[in-house]
Amino acid sequence: MSLVAVGACYIDTILTTPHYPGEDEKLRAISISHRRGGNCPNTLEVLQQLTAHNSRTVHPSLNLVAVLPAKSSVASQQVKSEFEPRVHLDNCIYRDDFNEPASSYIIKSQSSGSRTIVNYNELPEMTVDEFRKIADKLGPQSNWFHFEGRIPDIILACIQYLRQKFPAVRISVEAEKPARPGLQELAVEADVVFYSKSWAQGKGYQSAEECLRKQAELTRKASLLCCTWGQDGAFALETGSGNLIHRPAHSGPGFKVVDTIGAGDTFIAGMLYSLLYQDQKWDLSQKLSFANRVAGMKVAQEGFLGLERSLELHPGS
Ligand code: FRU
Repeated sequence: MSLVAVGACYIDTILTTPHYPGEDEKLRAISISHRRGGNCPNTLEVLQQLTAHNSRTVHPSLNLVAVLPAKSSVASQQVKSEFEPRVHLDNCIYRDDFNEPASSYIIKSQSSGSRTIVNYNELPEMTVDEFRKIADKLGPQSNWFHFEGRIPDIILACIQYLRQKFPAVRISVEAEKPARPGLQELAVEADVVFYSKSWAQGKGYQSAEECLRKQAELTRKASLLCCTWGQDGAFALETGSGNLIHRPAHSGPGFKVVDTIGAGDTFIAGMLYSLLYQDQKWDLSQKLSFANRVAGMKVAQEGFLGLERSLELHPGS
């Protein structure tokens, strides 16, 4: 089983504050932390824990395709030392003239649990040509390509290239950022789509169910559509049968929101794990419950460590 995740890699600087600051306010943070972020890297971080934990998953190959600064830069070294050998970075694109990574500055408010992200990225984006070369190398041995929904024109051309050259490869797309044009067009090309609540609301949908039902009419190639709705849990629609499933958000006794940064990325990891490694064994409801459980466990803790515990608690795993 081999999965390729294509998206941006960030270095996150996280300030935990007692509340979200007002404009021009002076506020003392409670703590500061730095970690490697980005939607696809976060998803891979969780996926590698889940696949390593399950001894029955045979030699999973997890690959990141992201633009990084020069190989010798501190940031690229950090990403390498955190990921290799569990996640392959051989197909990352290194921009030799840059040392500064894509960076996010995140204010995590303790009172509301919100995470406000301001990011900066001066790295030139991946080109379609660069992707084609990578796809020619990885395509023949890969089962699944997952794309973060960004740089839509480029990603659209990348998906079309995969469809034409490697028709057996399954493709998923994340539609997260509400104000980003072009994500609908990406969803139309995918087999599996992950919609965020904010994307759905940005499109004017009042509920996850409305989003999924209406999207099913537009995404003719997709077999599965998923939509997360914060505390209200997650929804999934099998487009072929029209079967719509809802599973409540995971919360155990004493559950407390600690860190929501990357919760959506973790949910996607849970679903990708279910679809790639437990497809025959778990039905859609079990897959969705599992993804909710990993995401819920992530929200209740700082960072991403130890999320493979979710497998021990999941019936049938
Ligand atoms: C969380 C995250 C952070 C990153 C930001 C990029 O989903 O991936 O790790 O800084 O979003 O948009």
